Amino acid sequence: MYDLSTPKSPTIRLTDEQVAFYHENGYLRIEQISVPEELEALRAIYDRLFEQKAGRERGQQFDLAGSDEDDAVAKLPQILDPSSFAPEMRNTYIWANAKQICRQLEDQEDPGIGDHAILKPAGYGAPTPWHQDEAYWSPNFHYRSMSIWVPLQDADERSGCLAFMPGSHKGHVVPHRQIGGDPRVHGLEIDPDANVDFSGAVFCPLPAGGCTVHHNRTMHYAPPNVGDQPRRAWILGTGGPATELETPNDYYWQKAWATARQERASKA
Ligand code: NI
Repeated sequence: MYDLSTPKSPTIRLTDEQVAFYHENGYLRIEQISVPEELEALRAIYDRLFEQKAGRERGQQFDLAGSDEDDAVAKLPQILDPSSFAPEMRNTYIWANAKQICRQLEDQEDPGIGDHAILKPAGYGAPTPWHQDEAYWSPNFHYRSMSIWVPLQDADERSGCLAFMPGSHKGHVVPHRQIGGDPRVHGLEIDPDANVDFSGAVFCPLPAGGCTVHHNRTMHYAPPNVGDQPRRAWILGTGGPATELETPNDYYWQKAWATARQERASKA
C-alpha cells in the first residue's frame, strides 16, 4: 500500500523561464508532479468518492453540465473539496508540489489550497466550454489565484485535456452565461455574443500526474472525452490573498443561476 499517512516534501522547483512564461501567458505546463504509485492510490480514492456520491446532499457533489435532478445521470459530475472526504489526499506529492508552484508564482510562504474533482465519463460528448474561472466567483474582489489541473490518467485532445488562450489573463472577465443559456445549469460559458476569437488556442496534452497551471482570468476549454476511459481531473486552487474592490465587478450572469444544487444546499 502506498503510504499517505504523512505529508510529502515538494519534488519540483520552477525555473526562472517557467515563472516568466506563466506571468506572460497566464498558463504553464509541467511534465510531472507525482509518482505512479501515488496516482494509482488517488484513482481508487477518486472513484470511491464519486461512487458513494460523497457530499451530494450538502451540494458538494453535483452535475456541472446537466440539470442535476436527483434521478438524472450526471453528465459531468463534480465534487467540491474532495480532500475534505479523504484528507489523505493532502499527503501527496501533488499537494506539496502545488504549494511549491504557488510559492514561486505568487510569492506565498505557506499558501492555502482548495480542491475539486471533475470526472468526464468515457465517451462523453460535450466539451467544457470556454470560460474564465473568475466568472464563477464573487465580483467583490481582485484575485491572484491559480488552478493546478492534474489528470490522474493520460489526457490528450481526445480525452479532454485543457486548452488555453495565451495572454487572456491580462484582460477583463468577458460576459458569460449558463451553458446553452439554461439557468438550471451550474456551468458557465463565455457568451457567444462576446465574439471572442479562440483561434490562437494552445492544447496541453499531459501524462498522468503532469499538470497545467492557469490564472483566474485565463480563458480555457476542454474538448469532449471521446476516448474509452473516464477522464479524472483533480484541480487544486491556490494563490495570494484576494483584495476587496471599491467598485465591484458586474458579473450579472451569476444572478440567473437557479440550480437544483443550490436548492439542496439551502435545505441542508
Ligand atoms: Ni475552469
